[in-house]
Amino acid sequence: MPGNRVELDQHLREMKEKIEASLRGFIEKYSQGVPSKLKEAVEYSLFAGGKRIRPILALEAAELVGGVHETAMPVACGIEMIHTYSLIHDDLPAMDDDDLRRGVPTNHKVFGEAIAILAGDALLTLAFNVMSDLDNYPEDVSPSTVLQALALVAKAAGWSGMVGGQVVDIEMEGAEPSACVVEEIHTNKTAKMIQVSLLAGALVAGASQEEMGTLERYGMSLGLTFQVVDDILGAIGDEKSLGKPVGKDIQRGKMTYPAVWGVEESKRRAEELTDEACKALIPFGDRAYRLRALSKMLLERVS
Ligand code: IPE
Ligand code: IPE
Ligand code: MG
Ligand code: MG
Repeated sequence: MPGNRVELDQHLREMKEKIEASLRGFIEKYSQGVPSKLKEAVEYSLFAGGKRIRPILALEAAELVGGVHETAMPVACGIEMIHTYSLIHDDLPAMDDDDLRRGVPTNHKVFGEAIAILAGDALLTLAFNVMSDLDNYPEDVSPSTVLQALALVAKAAGWSGMVGGQVVDIEMEGAEPSACVVEEIHTNKTAKMIQVSLLAGALVAGASQEEMGTLERYGMSLGLTFQVVDDILGAIGDEKSLGKPVGKDIQRGKMTYPAVWGVEESKRRAEELTDEACKALIPFGDRAYRLRALSKMLLERVS
């Protein structure tokens, strides 16, 4: 039955396979002549087994507005590359100083800091290669639409989005927990990249202004839920299933949701945000059942 958990899990597995095949294809297409150590470092983190939430959202959004997955694949893969770069840099000793990511030693632990920094740089720039190459899109996608999608992604990933959020996250280590600061950090470092995955996927697939507005609202609530859930799991989750360390946020004095409100209140906030996300989808009606199911699945990680 469409929308039940078994069907959703099967669907997500298929989406992941499709995305990973495309990521491999793009890596091969653009890696002629690049230093082999760099390619190895990029592939090490890119194929270490992430959940692929962002590219899945991009493809779902494209389908929801009447398009096909293939149209959104370049932006889906580009965003996953940007996300992977952000994780490599996030784990560096100068940032969160973590040893485990996606269930394996962090990039700098294996390749050294210099190559890890450069592998992140390479992924960020490769993402824009992939997303801006019109040959990667079906012919009916216009260059101006691609350009608009690129501008949205750049804004969400850069200093008014993820990079800016990462700066405040680092600057606020050890500071007195504050509700409004944590909201700002989470909006910027995480929610905007989740939101733009939906927006960029929908845009290249021909979304209307109304559909973009609806996805913008859903994306922000979903993105915030995502980081609240990540914070809760970072405090009380299981290292093995998460594939990254648990308890480090408290150790580093990070300004997280649980640090401000405690774990129980954070769970309530995640439920509230999930309700908001589902309500935002009302204009799509039943067609949005998968995005609704994805929101609920995310919440189940902490319930
Ligand atoms: C982890 O993101 C970092 C956050 C922004 C919370 P994910 O939980 O999507 O990590 P992967 O891609 O599955 O490894
Ligand atoms: C990750 O933030 C957000 C990024 C932009 C990479 P965190 O530092 O909270 O995420 P984890 O817990 O290391 O995945
Ligand atoms: Mg961090
Ligand atoms: Mg971190």
